[in-house]
Amino acid sequence: MGAGIAVSFLAVGDTVMVVEMNEGAHATVADDAKDSLTRLARRNTSLDVDEAMNRLSVSSEHPAPDDVVLVIEAIPEDLGLKQRVFAQLETHYGPSTMLASNTSSLPISGVASALDHPDRCLGLHFFNPVPISSLVEIVVGEATADERVAEAQSWVEHVGKTPIVVKDSPGFASSRLGLVLGLEAIRMLESGVASAEDIDTAMELGYRHPMGPLKLTDLVGLDVRLSIAEHLASELGDRFEPPALLRQMVEDGKLGKKSGQGFYSW
Ligand SMILES: NC(=O)c1ccc[n+]([C@@H]2O[C@H](COP(=O)([O-])OP(=O)(O)OC[C@H]3O[C@@H](n4cnc5c(N)ncnc54)[C@H](O)[C@@H]3O)[C@@H](O)[C@H]2O)c1
Repeated sequence: MGAGIAVSFLAVGDTVMVVEMNEGAHATVADDAKDSLTRLARRNTSLDVDEAMNRLSVSSEHPAPDDVVLVIEAIPEDLGLKQRVFAQLETHYGPSTMLASNTSSLPISGVASALDHPDRCLGLHFFNPVPISSLVEIVVGEATADERVAEAQSWVEHVGKTPIVVKDSPGFASSRLGLVLGLEAIRMLESGVASAEDIDTAMELGYRHPMGPLKLTDLVGLDVRLSIAEHLASELGDRFEPPALLRQMVEDGKLGKKSGQGFYSW
């Protein structure tokens, strides 16, 4: 998600630094960004891929704080980890820098509780694949300042996407609704109602969804969806309890597109 978010800002002329702690992944981040910009340039002929790549840097160190107006965190979906990282961000970046999280389900007020100045923290929830998806969900925490919400709306429009503003609540609007469909599709596959292809086709042709719920789960990552389902089950009840098939596939390393195998072979 981090590389995809970076590409969205590069495509509109911004300078972006991806902070990736795993040095072994630096080349992959740059390669993925270049591939993604190249695909975007086929649609947007004014986009110069080499010029855009010159505005990208990848490092394990944070940049000089004065140069940064917006930080978007996209580390694993783990509240304790996000709180630790946000506490570090606050010590590095001055109060004018907005601190946003790409969390798909965790409470933004919980993430912001690690901060002395939680008013500058909110959720900026991008969707996969980021460069071509048109929605960003802005999640407003208990302490988020109104002017920060307005600033976030401007950022989302700046990258050519549509913002929706959602109160901090489990799964926000998108993950909560998306999970209902995704988990039910897995239960249907589990009980032999239809094949993965036919379940997906039902939603693609019957309801004009651009992608069926099982293919989307493969794209998002079965591990990511499992952790969201566990969080929503604990907050909203049994209807979000992850199906046994989802747990088993994650245990077997079938994580979807990123591992080469999920409900489909990639
Ligand atoms: N996958 C999706 O489709 C999707 C969609 C919307 C939002 N999200 C959210 O975005 C976030 C990232 O998801 P992802 O799928 O890109 O995850 P990912 O596992 O692909 O990437 C996680 C990144 O965090 C880094 N990381 C791991 N441990 C770290 C640590 N201890 N400290 C600092 N960095 C660390 C990794 O090197 C990697 O760059 C999550 O909060 C997830 O819920 C994911």
